[in-house]
Amino acid sequence: MARSMLILAIALAFIGSMADAAVVEHTFHVGNLTVRRLCRSKVITAVNGRFPGPTLDVHEGDTLVVNVINDSPYDMTIHWHGIFQILSAWADGPNMITQCPIRPGRSYTYKFTITGQEGTLWWHAHASVLRATVYGALVIRPRQGTKAYPFPQPDEEVPILLGEWWNANVVDVANQAFLTGGTPNISDAYTINGKTGDLYPCSKKHTYKLQVEKGKTYLLRIINAALDNQLFFKIAEHGFTVVAVDAGYTKPYKTDVIAIAPGQTVDALMVADAPPAGYYMAALPYISTANPPPPRPAFDNTTTTGIVQYKSASPSLPPVMPAMPSFFDNDAAFRFYSHLTALCRSGDRIVPHHVDERMLVTVGLGLVACRPTQLLCNQSQGALAASMNNVSFQFPTTMSLLEAHFKGAEGIYTADFPDRPPVFFDFTNASVNVVPALQPLSFASQATKVKKLKYNTVVEMVLQGTAILGIESHPMHLHGFDFFVVAQGFGNYDRAAAEKSYNLVDPQVRNTISVPTGGWAVIRFIANNPGVWIMHCHLDAHLSFGLAMAFEVENGPTPESTLPPPPPDFPTC
Ligand code: C2O
Repeated sequence: MARSMLILAIALAFIGSMADAAVVEHTFHVGNLTVRRLCRSKVITAVNGRFPGPTLDVHEGDTLVVNVINDSPYDMTIHWHGIFQILSAWADGPNMITQCPIRPGRSYTYKFTITGQEGTLWWHAHASVLRATVYGALVIRPRQGTKAYPFPQPDEEVPILLGEWWNANVVDVANQAFLTGGTPNISDAYTINGKTGDLYPCSKKHTYKLQVEKGKTYLLRIINAALDNQLFFKIAEHGFTVVAVDAGYTKPYKTDVIAIAPGQTVDALMVADAPPAGYYMAALPYISTANPPPPRPAFDNTTTTGIVQYKSASPSLPPVMPAMPSFFDNDAAFRFYSHLTALCRSGDRIVPHHVDERMLVTVGLGLVACRPTQLLCNQSQGALAASMNNVSFQFPTTMSLLEAHFKGAEGIYTADFPDRPPVFFDFTNASVNVVPALQPLSFASQATKVKKLKYNTVVEMVLQGTAILGIESHPMHLHGFDFFVVAQGFGNYDRAAAEKSYNLVDPQVRNTISVPTGGWAVIRFIANNPGVWIMHCHLDAHLSFGLAMAFEVENGPTPESTLPPPPPDFPTC
């Protein structure tokens, strides 16, 4: 009797949860859009004639179906950044990793169910540099009718998409960088919700405005969609309470400055409790190079602003500007990045205490020999590159990794991505660039290597920054999984010492970790999702330099742990 009651209860709960889940359908027309910014008109690639693109609003448990019609002149894919894609790896989107691109004039329907994650994520193009303008918010609310936010209900919710703007066509900028084997030209502006803000020329009407009412609480869903820059974000005279990052709830964390790397999201509550007036919200770059020898590499040192305007105040007075951190404030960035902890509600996944596979992976810059197509590359010096464990990732050209994995096709990739760097040296010591014996390390090999994992393997990966050709913080993003950030530190990772600082109680859960400048981070994840999942630096320039690798996760023993075949309209090469 008790048993049949239990089965009935489970069945009802199942039907209940099914009834609450919806199918949410959208069509994305990707095409040219002419916009005016910084005193000139420019044709950009955009979704549905909007920049930024539409916000997708779903509940946990929903199935999202997005038909992407590519009317742009470029090969296109869309990635749903941070979505687990359980058994739907075919919908993940990175070009030549999980699919061939959607050619101009063609379409592909991405279909996936969102389970076990709530908060702010986003979507963006994952082909060439098109994500510069092809992006939008993806908001996941708690499952319909079941639970509320684990923090006071805000009066309003506001997506804040931080972006980066070039006056030139971004594909031209990337092509030029490739031809020379150097870094792309720096951007001309940063943006808030697609608008540059009135500190830039001709930008008064391209300034984002948020109207607030005294005493109300606003949930800011902040997304860093910039291509190549981590950012600091502040609002004059207002503090934040961070309640989630990367669609994972955090213990409330109070701060007046937010550091956010490309790929990351921060959900922050802001109470309109200042004297009614106008206040700037502002973002400027966090340049993570530690003590770079002069001259510093060029960077876009401009500031984007929006205006928080109290309804009761006269808008004629100039807004108050926040005191911003310096571009090089490693302390402010590390304070923010390292103080977050997970909320840990009952039912949340907990950090695994045992590890099946240990990896120590260097991440950093380097050089490769100029390719024949890099016509303007300096042969004697080589082309700028980036690598993980000294392997500079090569994207396949004839078949995506996932398709090759699924079909067992030979010759597309090898499953020998190394667990350790080829040599151990003083990774973060800038003298690596002057000691002749260490010079060969700046040359990386180029290959398409994956790390193969059995289903449900617990992986611990140490991401170790290097000083080769300069120290910098790399925002490392893993597709298909969230990971626990169990420790972070400076210098060279030393397991015995580091393990004492491991947080195995409430570590923050992320899909993108800003590896500390001249330091390391330890992440753990459970490979419970079959497919091929790229891990890469979310600085777009570094991804094109090869700062990437991929995990090949095998099927599990049951149909529920086996990747189904691709959908019928799956793009092939
Ligand atoms: Cu948001 Cu592979 O990236």
